Amino acid sequence: MSAFHYQNGSLYAESVSLSDIAAEYGSPCYVYSRNYLEQRFLEYSNALEGQDHLVCYAVKANSNIAVLNVLARLGAGFDIVSVGELERVLAAGGKAERVVFSGVGKTKAEMRRALEVGILCFNVESEAELERLNEVAAELGCRAPVSIRVNPDVDAKTHPYISTGLRDNKFGIDIARAPAVYQRAASLDHLEIKGVDCHIGSQLIDTTPFLDTLERLLQLVDELAKQQIHLSHIDLGGGLGVRYRDEQAPNTGEYIAAIRRRLGDRQVKLMFEPGRSIAANAGVLLTTVEFLKLNPHKNFAVIDAAMNDMLRPSLYQAWMDLLPVTPREDVDARLYDVVGPVCETGDFLAKDRELRIESGDLLALASSGAYGFTMSSNYNSRGRVAEVMVDGDQHYLIRARETVADLMRGEALLPL
Ligand code: LLP
Repeated sequence: MSAFHYQNGSLYAESVSLSDIAAEYGSPCYVYSRNYLEQRFLEYSNALEGQDHLVCYAVKANSNIAVLNVLARLGAGFDIVSVGELERVLAAGGKAERVVFSGVGKTKAEMRRALEVGILCFNVESEAELERLNEVAAELGCRAPVSIRVNPDVDAKTHPYISTGLRDNKFGIDIARAPAVYQRAASLDHLEIKGVDCHIGSQLIDTTPFLDTLERLLQLVDELAKQQIHLSHIDLGGGLGVRYRDEQAPNTGEYIAAIRRRLGDRQVKLMFEPGRSIAANAGVLLTTVEFLKLNPHKNFAVIDAAMNDMLRPSLYQAWMDLLPVTPREDVDARLYDVVGPVCETGDFLAKDRELRIESGDLLALASSGAYGFTMSSNYNSRGRVAEVMVDGDQHYLIRARETVADLMRGEALLPL
């Protein structure tokens, strides 16, 4: 399954040529495939058929309301980490009762809003947060549904910046302490214990750490049951890896089947929080070559997209594929570092790529649908780019390119 393919010598998203998209909406822009998003979501929900479950798409991966809406229409739940993400989900037609709220620093105002709209569960990350949530729920005269996010101390074997399940990480509560924290939660009047949650890291290629984690969570569930604390759901978080280059990305259906086998006939609701595995390969970042700069030691292709539009290569040295939109044979192939106009040496989207390109050519940075636009910024006073969704032979602007007025909105001069 691929959302992007060559047809008549040009790269297409579903049935729309990316050259046409660039002509209509300008460059750079993000382009997403509705069909691909849906298929990746359905891989989860189909594999969970017959099992009580909820797939909570991790909004941080791609939070455009059109993306959220496409998933909400399929019955998705949502994993949020801020009130901003919550409001996006609601604006997109997502249901509050299918929202889980993760994150280590929830403010009182965020807790209040989430309680008011009636979210499914707070994934509580510390004992201090548990106390705060109890207070806020008391003020509102309600009970807050909680899961404890445990840190199972499992090595996800991924990039250190996106590995979260080790004891040294800031996330979650050490699994050894979890029973005491559940006891404390049980003693608080304004909390209602729902389940257990974890998220061990992102871009996992080997699924063994997920199974090890489930093993540890099940031990915890059993131990808690002996103490009369009964959990109704287990949330395994997100983290399934995707193919950026030549990774053998895990198959969603096989992953879920392995989890279900291990679960046996336990009566518990299974939850997941996938982000990247749904959105990454649903999108590309379309960009134009501005200049070729052929230096004696190195060739640079200067493009109109930069690290502020897509941070992953700069931040994680992530390798992302770069595809010519209309491949050509009439110019020599050269090795290029593909860089943006931002004034930082770390501003590159690709290094040492063999390309046949000329100024004016369109390129597509693959696998940009997750952690692309959502991590973009206005650095160097660059407006954030447009986002477009393709649906079959139709295409829609789902976020307008930012204007100069957008860039200065809310700013003010000092009085004379
Ligand atoms: N649940 C929680 C609590 C998370 O922190 C995350 C991601 C997810 C779910 C979704 O994980 P996924 O299925 O997407 O792996 N910016 C980085 C990735 C950071 C992931 C942060 N947490 C990147 O571009 O690689």
